[in-house]
This record gives sequence, C-alpha cells and structure tokens, in this order.
Amino acid sequence: MYQAARGTQDILPADQPYWRFLEKAIAEITRLYGYQRIDTPIFEDTSLFRRAGEYTDIVQKEMYTVDDRGGNSLTLKPEGTPAVCRAYVQHGMQNLPQPVKLYYTSPIFRYDRPQAGRYRQHHQFGCEAIGDDDPALDAEVIEMAWRFYKNIGLAKISLQINSIGCKVCRPQYLDKLKEHYRQSQGVLCADCKNRLDKNPLRLLDCKQDTCQDMAQNAPKSVDALCPDCADHFEQLKKYLGLLDIGFQVNHRLVRGLDYYTRTVFEIQPEVEAGQSTIGGGGRYDGLIEELGGKPAPGMGFATGLERIILNLKKENISIPTPSPLQAYIAYMGGQARDEAFKLTSSLRRAGISVICSTGSKSLKAQMRQANNLGVLYTVIIGEDEVKAGTATLRYMSDARQETVPLAELSQKLSGK
Ligand code: HAM
Repeated sequence: MYQAARGTQDILPADQPYWRFLEKAIAEITRLYGYQRIDTPIFEDTSLFRRAGEYTDIVQKEMYTVDDRGGNSLTLKPEGTPAVCRAYVQHGMQNLPQPVKLYYTSPIFRYDRPQAGRYRQHHQFGCEAIGDDDPALDAEVIEMAWRFYKNIGLAKISLQINSIGCKVCRPQYLDKLKEHYRQSQGVLCADCKNRLDKNPLRLLDCKQDTCQDMAQNAPKSVDALCPDCADHFEQLKKYLGLLDIGFQVNHRLVRGLDYYTRTVFEIQPEVEAGQSTIGGGGRYDGLIEELGGKPAPGMGFATGLERIILNLKKENISIPTPSPLQAYIAYMGGQARDEAFKLTSSLRRAGISVICSTGSKSLKAQMRQANNLGVLYTVIIGEDEVKAGTATLRYMSDARQETVPLAELSQKLSGK
C-alpha cells in the first residue's frame, strides 16, 4: 500500500479547523502590523539558496534539488527569506517607501530526519520587513511574533534574543571563538571539528555533551560588538521593555542560517526547548546585497504551522469548530429521489448547506450517514410526501419530527 512520502503528511479534514484558525490569525496579525502578502514560486534557482547560506546544514544537507529538462538546477524552497529578497530586488521594491513589509505562508522542504515536529515538508508563516535598520523595527517584528502566539492562545512560551554583530565586529569575535575551541579541539564532535573552520558560530548551539561544556565558557558575542551593534542591541532591549515583552538574552543563540547580522531571536515552548523551537528570525542586513541587489537591510521571522498546532494541542487550546452542515436529504423510492434531487439544488441556491443521499440505501443507512455527518436536520421524502408536496423534517438534536410543506423548508432550515 502506498504511504505519504517519509516526513510528509496528509492534513485530514479533522485537522483542517486548526489550519483555518491559523489562517485567520495570520490575516489578522499581518493586517494590524501593515504587512502585505507575497507568494513566491515553490522552487527557485538552486544558486539563490546557496548564495544565502552556503555553510548551513540546510543548504549542504537538506535541499531537494532537481535538474530540469533544460539543464537548470532548481530547489524546492528550504526557507522563505531568500525568495522574498529575490522578489524585492527583481520587482524594484527598493523604490517604494521603506521598509517594505511582506508576509507569506508556504510549504517548505527540508531533507531532515523526521520526528515529532520535524518533517520533510512543513508549512511556514513568515514575514520580512526590508529596507530599514532601525532597532524599533526589530522590536516590532519580535512583538508581532509574540502577539501572534498569544492571540492564538499559546501561554507556555518564552522569548530568547541575542546579537551576533555585523561584518565589522563579527570576524574578531569569530577569531576569539575559534581560539577558545582550538584549546580543546580533541573533545569536539566530528561536526564541530568541521564547523571550527567553516561555520564557527554554530559551535555554540551543538547539542553534544562535550561540545555543550565548551560552549558554556565560550566568549560571548555581545561582549565583542562594535559600538554601532552594541547601541543597536541596547536600543532593541529598550524597545522590548517599552512594549512590555519579557525576554532572556541567550548568549548561545546563533540560529541555523548564515545570513543573520545583529539581532537573532527564537520563541520556544517553556518545556522541551531547543529542538522544538516554534519560531525564530532575525536581522539580515547583508543578504539583499549578497543576492545582487543594492544594499538594503532586512529583519524577519518565520514559524512552523505544524509545530504551532502540536503546541495548541499540547496546551489543550480549544479552537473554533466550523459550522455544521445544515441538512441531509433522505429519500425512499424513485419519485422521492427525483424530488430530493431537485430540493437539494434549490436549498443550496437559498444558501443552505445540504448533502443529498445517493444510490438506494435503506432509510436506516441514510439516517446513520446523516448522524455521521453531524447535520442539524434530516429531511425525509417518501412516496406519501411526494404526493402531498411535503417532507418530514427531523431535528437531529432531539429526534423531534414534523411535517413541513416543501415550499417552507428553506425558511425552516435557515431558522427564519
Ligand atoms: P527557521 O528557524 O529555519 O527559520 O525556520 C522557522 C520555523 O520553521 C522553525 O522555528 C520551526 O517552527 C519551523 N521548522 C523548521 N524546520 C522544520 C521542520 N523540518 N519541520 C517542521 N517545522 C520546521 C527560517 O526559515 C528563516 N527563513 C526565518 C526568517 C525569516 N528569518 C528572517 N526572516
């Protein structure tokens, strides 16, 4: 039997209310903060993602890349930010008043080791504010993420922030970091030995015990910031304070993507933090230029919708259930069937949601189906009803039944 490909899942009808609930919450929060929707293609030139994060695990190990028949290398989006930056440059958005605020929801593909909350296809809600380096914007993006989670009812979350500097101060910091790790190079895991040269910042968030010990006493990026970056970080903390958003500075928070500068942040469930980050983002002041645009700073955030739903379920948060189907039409006999068929169509035209029975099921089987569908009413039409121009209306809540003229049914069903 075929199964959905490893690390992917079907979103079955029973789970759809969570998705509709999140869609609404996304529409509302982005409206409040003035973000406009952007949709970018599901795949991009592979080199776009490579340029954005050459040394990251995502680019090196996790991309779904194909060569098309024309010999182009294309990659399914492993994240949303480079695609939005590409669109910003391609469509000349630099000429608009800055910052340009864009949001998206999109499937994302990563060849990850599947486990709870970690999939090969997941969905992200992300937002990018491009064209301004004001730390107030960093605070606003973080606030938006925080309020989004609070609005949907997540209570047990925490916010961590850090600053990892810019191209002026980062190189000196990386030298200090490498020096620290070189002293005990022998105890590092194989991945970290590799990171020491290629991506030393990632040494700080390695989950292996021995590497964790080293990270505890590692030099902190905030102690090595240049005056501009230090001031930016101080301002960010001040603004978060003004917004009354509680945070912890986590000196080991570096994020898994190469392009971040200055601000990085993550929002995690209070229990089982780390692997299960619900959302994260940061500033990327060099990315647009790296991708071939005129220099423009950026700040953004993304969150995994599957992880949010896991947390909504874990916190037992009830979400609005969709309105039930109004009616099921059951019939007995050929003439009644024709009447039911016509009636169904006229009720739908009157705006009433209806499912009509099909085939030649027994009345019992039809009633069972009506029950399963959770309808409010069942309309039963037999030969007698056809002759009399009526139907039997059954209230599913208390099994009450009454005879109603066909012409009055739509009024009855819509509760008028
Ligand atoms: P990211 O931290 O790689 O950031 O992903 C954002 C969120 O996507 C994570 O916090 C998590 O909720 C979810 N996520 C990531 N990988 C998986 C997975 N394999 N399965 C399920 N959920 C997952 C970014 O992608 C950046 N583009 C965020 C950003 C926007 N930075 C600036 N702007």
